[in-house]
Amino acid sequence: MKVVHFFIFFYALLCSVESGNILAIFQFPYFSHQRFHQTVMQILLDEGHTVTVFSTHPHDYKDHPNVTQYVFEDSIRIHSEHTDMLMYRKKKMHYSQILIQHESKAYYEAAKHEMAHPEIQRMIKNSSDYHFDLVIAECFVCTSFLFAEVFDCPIAVVTAIEAPYMIHSLFGNDVNSFKHSESLFLPYIHGKMTSLQKFDSFLFQMFHELVFNTVNVYNNAKLNYEHFSHLGMRSIRSPTDRLGLLMTNTNHAFGHVRALMPHTIQIGYTHVERPKKIEDLELKEFLDNSTNGVIIKALGSTVNTKSLGIENVKKFLNIFSKSKMNILWKLDEIEPGLDIPSNVKIVSWLPLADALAHPNVKLLIFHGGIFTAYEAIDRGVPMITFPLAYDQFMNARLMAHKGIAMEMDLNSFKDSELTSAIQEMTKPKYAANVRKMRSLAYDQPINNRDLIVWHVNNVIKNRIIYAEDFGSLSIFGSPLNHFLVYAGILLTLLYILVKKKLMKVEEKCKMS
Ligand SMILES: *[C@@H]1O[C@H](CO)[C@@H](O)[C@H](O)[C@H]1NC(C)=O
Ligand SMILES: *[C@@H]1O[C@H](CO)[C@@H](O)[C@H](O)[C@H]1NC(C)=O
Ligand SMILES: *[C@@H]1O[C@H](CO)[C@@H](O)[C@H](O)[C@H]1NC(C)=O
Repeated sequence: MKVVHFFIFFYALLCSVESGNILAIFQFPYFSHQRFHQTVMQILLDEGHTVTVFSTHPHDYKDHPNVTQYVFEDSIRIHSEHTDMLMYRKKKMHYSQILIQHESKAYYEAAKHEMAHPEIQRMIKNSSDYHFDLVIAECFVCTSFLFAEVFDCPIAVVTAIEAPYMIHSLFGNDVNSFKHSESLFLPYIHGKMTSLQKFDSFLFQMFHELVFNTVNVYNNAKLNYEHFSHLGMRSIRSPTDRLGLLMTNTNHAFGHVRALMPHTIQIGYTHVERPKKIEDLELKEFLDNSTNGVIIKALGSTVNTKSLGIENVKKFLNIFSKSKMNILWKLDEIEPGLDIPSNVKIVSWLPLADALAHPNVKLLIFHGGIFTAYEAIDRGVPMITFPLAYDQFMNARLMAHKGIAMEMDLNSFKDSELTSAIQEMTKPKYAANVRKMRSLAYDQPINNRDLIVWHVNNVIKNRIIYAEDFGSLSIFGSPLNHFLVYAGILLTLLYILVKKKLMKVEEKCKMS
C-alpha cells in the first residue's frame, strides 16, 4: 500500500499543473444546471485533467477515456416530489414558504439519497484508496464540500446561476442587500432599487440568515455528522473552510454587477455552442420559407400542455393566427381536434439553440431561463418572457431593463397585450440592443474557456484555500456580526420612531 501511495504522490508531483485529479459532485437536479456543469467539466477534460463526476443526470463526454461517471439515479424523482414551479406561480407563493416548505425539504431528501450512493460511501470509508487535487461542487447543497477535507484539497464552487450571497461573502465579494437584490427570488435591478425594494431585499437576507440558513445548516450538519463524523466536529461545523475558487454562470453586461475579488470569475455564456446545421429537413424548410419572420415559443421542459391548460393553448393559438409571421412552438403534445392555424408549427422537440441562429427568427417567447436567454442573446434574438419561478423573474426584469425583452404574466396577460408586445419587440432597435449586449459580453481580454482553465490550474497548483490565503473581507463573516448589524439597524429605527413621538409630544405641550 505504501508503495502505491508513493507512486501516486510521485505521479501527482510530476503532473501537478498539467493534469490534476478532480472530483466533481453535482447534486442539484436540474437538467439545465447539469448541462452547464458538463460544459465546464468537458473543458477541464480537454485540458488533460482526469475527472470523476457524480451528477443527477447522465453527462455526455463522448467516451472520453479520462472520465469516470456516476449518476444519482433517484435525485430528480425525489426533488420533483417536493417542488412544483407552476404551483408556486398559481398560488402566488411567497419565497419564504417556497424555501422552507418545499425547497429545503427537497434538497435534504435528495442529499440523503446521494450520500448513500455506494461509490460515495466507498470514497468516505476507504478514502486512502483515492487521491484528488480538487473538489468541484455546486453550492446549493453542501454535503459534498467535506470531501475536500477527506482528500485534503481545495474546493472550486461552480454555480449554474448566480451564487447565493453567503458564498459571495465567503470569497470577500461585495454583499449588501441595499445595493444588490441578495435573492434570486426578488427581481430587483442591482444598484437601482427603490427604498421599498431595498427594505424587501434586506428582509430577505434577514429571513435567509436567521431562518432558511439555520434549517439548511442543520440539515447539512445532520447528514455530514452521519457520514463524516471521523473528521471531527470542527470540520462538520465549517464545511466551507476550504473554498478556493468561485465560478458563476453570470455576466456583468447582463446586469449581474457586484464588486468581485480575483478568485471569483463570471463565466456566463460558456455553455453556448456555435450553431450547428439543422438536420431535420422539414424544420429547416419551415424556417427557410418563413420570409416574413419566425417567432419561436418554448416555455421550458417543465411546462407541458397539461400544466399550461388547454384554455391557455387556445389563447396563444388565437393570438398567433393573426400574426403575419410564422410561429414555431415547442409543445409536448397536441390535443386531438385542436384547430392549428396555418402559420403555426407545433413540434415536440426542437434544437432550440440552432434554430435561434436562423436568420429568419425574429423573436423568442419563453420562460426566462438563463441558459436559453444567453443562447438568444448570442444569436441576436429579442425576447418576450413569461417567468414562472426561481431566477426567471430576475432574468426577465434585468433583460427588460436592458431593452432586450418584455416581461408578461402567464396568469393574467390579455390577447391585445401579447399582440402589441410582439409588434414592439420585433422592431429593429431591440435586435440592436441584443447585439450590443452580446458585444459587451464577448469583448473580453480572455475568453471563458481560457479563464476557467487558468483558474482551475491555479487553484490546484497553489492549493488555494481562500480563507487561509487571502482571508474573507465580508462584514457578514460570522453570524454574530450579522446579528449585530441587524440589531444595530433595528435599534436605529426604534430610536427614530421614539424621537418622532417625543417631538410630537413636545409640540403638543408647547401648543397647550
Ligand atoms: C488521459 O490522461 C492521461 C494521463 O494524464 C494523458 O496522458 C492522456 O493524454 C489523457 N487523454 C486524453 C484524451 O486527454
Ligand atoms: C473498503 O475496502 C475494504 C477492503 O478492500 C472492503 O472490504 C470494504 O467493503 C470497502 N468499503 C466500502 C464501503 O466499500
Ligand atoms: C416551402 O416553399 C416551397 C416553395 O415555395 C414549397 O414547395 C414548400 O412546400 C414549402 N415548405 C414548407 C414546409 O412550407
